[in-house]
Amino acid sequence: MTDIEELLLSRIRDVADYPEPGVMFKDITPLLADPAAFTALTDTLAQIAERTGATKVVGLEARGFILGAPVAVRAGLGFIPVRKAGKLPGATLSQAYDLEYGSAEIEVHAEDLTAGDRVLVIDDVLATGGTAEASIQLIRRASAEVAGLAVLMELGFLGGRARLAPALDGAPLEAL
Ligand code: PRP
Repeated sequence: MTDIEELLLSRIRDVADYPEPGVMFKDITPLLADPAAFTALTDTLAQIAERTGATKVVGLEARGFILGAPVAVRAGLGFIPVRKAGKLPGATLSQAYDLEYGSAEIEVHAEDLTAGDRVLVIDDVLATGGTAEASIQLIRRASAEVAGLAVLMELGFLGGRARLAPALDGAPLEAL
């Protein structure tokens, strides 16, 4: 494990039985409160943006906003929020996806992504991959390209990486 990986890992707090019994929640607020760790994370993600040739950064609500926005600034790229349904005022593209119980929907402003864009998607956690998969579908429906997906944490036992492979279609998935 690199020094940066050790630093990041040391600033993620496990909270047992949150938000419901049996779930171990990964709390990133200690990392955000530590300027050295937050800067190291931002710099590492900005390097991925540069390496993948991204021209825009998409952040997934809500923690993907906190991580993605400083990366966009550091990399000199625009930041595009992908929001839960009903939060964006303009014309949107919407994508529904299945949850364990029920379904959810995410949206992006249609004018924010166009042909010729290469988009790096950023989020805090990859779990089942449903949210990330829906965001990739939105990007492709906007005729933009997916440069890659970068997350702080991957919960490998939930199989998100395998689920995303067809959607990513060779684009890199980087989990720090
Ligand atoms: C969490 C997390 C990811 C998503 C991962 O967000 O921040 O966006 O779930 O889960 P998946 O891989 O199974 O789709 P959440 O829906 O809790 O939203 P929040 O950040 O607004 O609390």
